[in-house]
Amino acid sequence: MRSLKVFANDDEAVRFCLDHFIQNATEALSKRGIFTVALSGGSTPKLFFDRLSSSEQAKALDWKHIVLFWSDERACPPDHPDSNYGMAMKILSHEPFSCAQAFRMQAEEDDRDNAAREYEALIKKYCPEGRLDIVYLGVGEDGHTASLFPHSPALDEKKRLVIVTFVEVKMSWRMTLTFPCINQARNIVVLALGAKKAPIIKHTFNDKEILYPIQRVGTEKTPALFICDREAAPK
Ligand code: 6PG
Repeated sequence: MRSLKVFANDDEAVRFCLDHFIQNATEALSKRGIFTVALSGGSTPKLFFDRLSSSEQAKALDWKHIVLFWSDERACPPDHPDSNYGMAMKILSHEPFSCAQAFRMQAEEDDRDNAAREYEALIKKYCPEGRLDIVYLGVGEDGHTASLFPHSPALDEKKRLVIVTFVEVKMSWRMTLTFPCINQARNIVVLALGAKKAPIIKHTFNDKEILYPIQRVGTEKTPALFICDREAAPK
C-alpha cells in the first residue's frame, strides 16, 4: 500500500518532507522520549539534509534523544565519497544535530554478516521489536530501493532486519535494511525527485504487476508515503 504527494518542484517537496519529519519527531519525543530514524542514501536526500540542517524548527528538537540509522550503506569507510553516512554527517555535523546518536552501517568490515547482525542488535536496542519511527528511502531507475535490487536474493529475506548483499549491477557489497524492517516502521517515506524516476513511479502507482522492489514497500497498516516533484510524478 502507498500514498502519493506531488509538489510543483523539488524545493516544495523537500519542504513537505521536512515538515513531516518535524511533526513525527515532535510526536515521538513527547510520546516515547525517543525518535528513531533510518536515513536514505544516494544523492536525493542531500536536498533534505541541507534543508534540515538550516531549519530553526528542526534545531529546536531534542537531538540528544534522536537516534540516526541508515537504510543502506556501501562497503566503504565514512570518509569515502560513496558513503551514505559520510554525505549526511558532512551536513549534520554541527550542533544540535551532532548531539544525536548516529550509527553507521560498517559494510566494509571483513566479517560483513557479523557487522549486519550487530547493526540489527543496535536497532533492536533503541527500537522495541526493531520498529523504527521513520524509514526514509529513495528509488533507483531500475526500481531498487535501499540496497534491495531487482532479482536479488535479499528480496526474499523474511526474518533478518539487516543483511549484507552482493549487488551484481554495482559489483560491490552493500548492507541494507530488509523488507521486514522497512515495512514494520511507523512511517515509511520515499522521496523521489526528477524526471528519471517518473517511469518507475508511474508503474508503481498504475500497474498491479510486481516488477520492482520499490513496489513491495508499504503495507495496509503502514502505507509508504511517496513524496514527489511534478517531474517524477505519474502523468
Ligand atoms: C544508495 C541508496 C539507493 C538510492 C537510489 C536513488 O545507497 O544508492 O540508498 O537506494 O536511494 O539509488 O539514488 P539517487 O537519490 O542518487 O537517485
